[in-house]
Amino acid sequence: MKGIILAGGTGTRLYPLTKVCCKQLLPVFDKPMIYYPLSTLMLAGIKDICIISTPKDTPVLKDFLGDGSRFGLNFSYIVQQLPKGIAEAFILGKDFIGDDNVTLILGDNIFYGDFGLIQAIRDHKNGATIFGYPVTNPRDFGVIEFDNEGKVISIEEKPQKPKSNYIVPGLYIYDNDVIDIATNLKPSKRLEYEITDVNVEYLNRGKLRVYPMGRGVAWLDSGTTSALSEASTFVEIVEARQGLKMACPEEIALRLGFISLDKFKNEIDNMSRCQYRTYLEGVYREVYAKANNISLGQLGICDKNLLQNL
Ligand code: G1P
Repeated sequence: MKGIILAGGTGTRLYPLTKVCCKQLLPVFDKPMIYYPLSTLMLAGIKDICIISTPKDTPVLKDFLGDGSRFGLNFSYIVQQLPKGIAEAFILGKDFIGDDNVTLILGDNIFYGDFGLIQAIRDHKNGATIFGYPVTNPRDFGVIEFDNEGKVISIEEKPQKPKSNYIVPGLYIYDNDVIDIATNLKPSKRLEYEITDVNVEYLNRGKLRVYPMGRGVAWLDSGTTSALSEASTFVEIVEARQGLKMACPEEIALRLGFISLDKFKNEIDNMSRCQYRTYLEGVYREVYAKANNISLGQLGICDKNLLQNL
């Protein structure tokens, strides 16, 4: 399974924040926006990830994220010259996808909670898998219409009269047919290759699965100033309560075994002293203690050297 993060768009709705800064590197509380979709792909076990962005932002993202090896990942980068829609990602990413299946996530989408993504990817043999999420403002999204038995009847992009309050969040799993489907799309009225048209094509072929996201799941997009501020507050509250960081790629890479403990330590050593580093030091201590079968209390006494180094 390949992964694409579509970090496109000029961020007009976030102006003046985005006049110079790349939208996907703006902070959502304590880390850049793109860490959230990146973490979602990592948690789903996806390691080959292509980041598609604008001519202005692609070099910046590349500079910031690098080749992905520090997270045990492989990153590649593609420029989307003009904001021609989400579905264009599959045309631009044709060579990157190769013969594989692909999961695309939007660079400003934040998912929190267990909504069965790992299972959905495991079950995904062919066709398309998308998710359904209830919102109070369905007009702003792709809206799903269900029949009484929960079967999907239609999907409409930003309808004036939404047929339900279930919308399609920006996370899509497709088989390789998506490349052909996207290539044969006609641009919409807003002159974009619409992801909704891709989903409708799969629906017409009888190959679209929609997984409803449970009530315990949070989906936030951070594309407007209010949404960005709300997302930051949400992350701050959850992190303060649990003492655990949300969407921390270094931690995920370590805990999922993408990188070794030594590599993780090396990452920490290269980081300036900050709250993010202090958190990672705590993770290091915990994993080190577990690996060496010692309690955290003992660690303080028996390995002073280690603590000093941190
Ligand atoms: C896009 C899609 C829409 C989807 C939404 C999720 O909207 O076109 O179907 O529901 O992402 O964030 P846009 O970002 O173009 O407003």
